[in-house]
Amino acid sequence: MPPHVLTVASQSPDPEAIGEAAAVLAAGGLVAFPTETVYGLGADALNPSAVERIYAAKGRPVDNPIIVHIADAGALGRLVTDVPPLARTLIQRFWPGPLTLVLPAAGVVPSVTRGGLPTVAVRMPAHPVALALIRAAGCPVAAPSANRSGRPSPTTAQHVLADLRTAVDVVLDGGPTPVGVESTVLDLTSQPPALLRPGGVSFEQLAAIIGQVVVPSTATVANGTASPELQAALARSPGTRYRHYAPRAKVVLVEVVPGEAQLGEAGVTPTAAALSSSVHRLWCEGLRVGVMATAESAAGVPRGAVVRVMGSRHDPATVAAGLFALLRELDDAGLDAIVVEGIPEQGLGRAVMDRLRRAAGQAG
Ligand code: TXA
Ligand code: MG
Repeated sequence: MPPHVLTVASQSPDPEAIGEAAAVLAAGGLVAFPTETVYGLGADALNPSAVERIYAAKGRPVDNPIIVHIADAGALGRLVTDVPPLARTLIQRFWPGPLTLVLPAAGVVPSVTRGGLPTVAVRMPAHPVALALIRAAGCPVAAPSANRSGRPSPTTAQHVLADLRTAVDVVLDGGPTPVGVESTVLDLTSQPPALLRPGGVSFEQLAAIIGQVVVPSTATVANGTASPELQAALARSPGTRYRHYAPRAKVVLVEVVPGEAQLGEAGVTPTAAALSSSVHRLWCEGLRVGVMATAESAAGVPRGAVVRVMGSRHDPATVAAGLFALLRELDDAGLDAIVVEGIPEQGLGRAVMDRLRRAAGQAG
């Protein structure tokens, strides 16, 4: 059955629509809803059979745990066995907002919600529709991104319907999500805390408060250079093991050429030249090619390629907001390959590059 799609104002959603969606959650159903990052696929986090439906709908591996969403910080106490002082500081600074905290789980959180782990990931989203839904449902809401597993995350209700039309009961359409990349996932069960996924709250913002943040990567673990604590942290972040954000088309990432900033004068910048040669190489293989370029490089893309401008490379927030929609749009245009220009890894640029590397099939 196709879902019931309810259009709501993003800043002041109609209580009747929220009430209908909340009743579906309370009855064990699935509701897709906007958060400030991406659309989530929600179920009552404390109802194991409802949460099982999320895994089935997404085709998600059952060992990949799901973030639990709450509408006020006070609801955290029931879900975890301990709220350390650092968590309190971070919550005060970043909630509601795109920061997910991993803490030791209380017994009330079903094993299926935690993917079998002893920890639970919790966040309070900064979106009036999400907050109203969670409040009306009266339960914490487990919600991964509302895409089929492995596809780019949905930033509009249309993306949700394209992936999950038959698997979700209600879709709350609150328009495009403003941040565009998912929340930052920070594990507070290890010391120093580990950044399991870069996201809407930047590394720099976290580091300013915590001081030391460890960034585990599959590369350091593969080299055997990660400490046992780090390896354990990575093992606890199963999401990092899977290919992600991948359109059907092959994604080719062209990283920013070092020294680009100094060399911009002579018409074609080094990065634009690298983009151009990637396009020509793919054309030689007989492929239809699309390009996602920054405003700085778009003019240098060879004629004949489908080009979309991601925004300025100095404005990562704009690039993040449009990233998944552009990947999906070019994918739907029936192209064989999408050449994507990288941006500097500062602020939200770190999350953007993480998603692009995964989309291109490189390890995180
Ligand atoms: O912005 C977001 O976080 C969105 C919106 C809907 O809130 N949600 C989202 O969920 O991106 P999902 O399931 O697509 O990504 C959750 C990530 C996964 O990488 C998962 O492995 C990790 O969080 N995660 C969840 N629970 C965890 C836990 N207990 N320990 C470590 N990692 C956890
Ligand atoms: Mg996801």
